[in-house]
Amino acid sequence: MSLGSPRVHFRVVDSTNERARELAERGAPHGTLVTAAEQVAGRGRQGRTWNAPRGRAILCSLVLHKVPRLLPLAAGVAVAEVAGADARVKWPNDVLVDGRKVAGILVEGRPQEGWAVLGIGINVAVRPEELPPELRDRAGTLGLEPDAIEPLLARLLGSLEHWIAADVGSVLASVRGRDELLGKQLRWTGGEGRGAGIDGDGRLIVVTDGGHVALDAGEVHLVG
Ligand code: BTN
Repeated sequence: MSLGSPRVHFRVVDSTNERARELAERGAPHGTLVTAAEQVAGRGRQGRTWNAPRGRAILCSLVLHKVPRLLPLAAGVAVAEVAGADARVKWPNDVLVDGRKVAGILVEGRPQEGWAVLGIGINVAVRPEELPPELRDRAGTLGLEPDAIEPLLARLLGSLEHWIAADVGSVLASVRGRDELLGKQLRWTGGEGRGAGIDGDGRLIVVTDGGHVALDAGEVHLVG
C-alpha cells in the first residue's frame, strides 16, 4: 500500500493540512501521511475552522502527487465507505449519517507543482455533548470508542487507495448512489432549486424555476 507511509504523528498540531503542505513543499513522497490527536487550528472548507475533541477523531492529511480529476468526489466516496453502508455524500464531499455530518474533507494544493494535500476529519468517537453548541444540530459522530480510530484509519487508507485509482465512471456511480441532495430543495449563494444529480464532470445539477444549472464549486445548503 502506498498511502500512509511515511507517517508523521503529532499529539497536538496546528493543522495536519498545514504540516502536510510544508512536507509537500519540501518534496515529501506521494502517500506521506500526517495525523494528529488534536488540532488547535484545524481548517475547514470556505475558510471555516474544524474542531474535534482530543483523541476522538481521525484527523489526517495525505500528500498526493498523482491527483485524479475528481479527487474531492473520490475522497468523499472513500470516506463514506468506511463510515458505513448508510453513509451519504452531500456534494461535493461532506459525509453524513442520519442527516448529520460525521466527516469533512479539505483538498488544498498546488496543481502546477504536481501535488495536493487531502485533509480528512472523521468524528469517530466524539460524544454529542462534546460538539460545539452551534454544531449540535448538524454534526454527528460514528459513535465508536477511541480504540476504533487506528483500525478505521487503516481501512480509510485502503479505501482511498482504491477510489483514488478508480476510473471516473466508477467514482460517479458510487457518489450518485449515495447522493444526499437528490430530489431535495437546496439553496446556494446564486439561487435555489432541487437537487437533480451529479453530471459527468462531477458538477451538481440543480433544477430551478428557470431551467437547470450545474454547480462546480462552492457549497449548497438544504432548505428546511
Ligand atoms: C470541511 O469543512 O468540511 C472540511 C474539514 C476538513 C477537516 C480536516 S481535519 C484534518 C485536516 N486538517 C485540517 O486542518 N483540516 C482537515
